[in-house]
Amino acid sequence: MSGFGGGLPDAAVVGDAIFAGSLGSAKASYSRLFANVRDKILALPDDTLLLPGHGPLMTADEEKHNNPFFF
Ligand SMILES: [Fe+2]
Repeated sequence: MSGFGGGLPDAAVVGDAIFAGSLGSAKASYSRLFANVRDKILALPDDTLLLPGHGPLMTADEEKHNNPFFF
């Protein structure tokens, strides 16, 4: 854990790029969306809290292991 100095995890506002157990919609390129989520969001430290635009919060680690788009 890091960030905020109070023992809270780092957090990333991920908007509609990824949701718990799902992937956002791509307006231009699905392959680019997939690659960006994989290489930028899921590459964050495991305990990073992801804050999507819809649905429940999740961590990068949870999505790496439970999101059917990425395992
Ligand atoms: Fe949205």
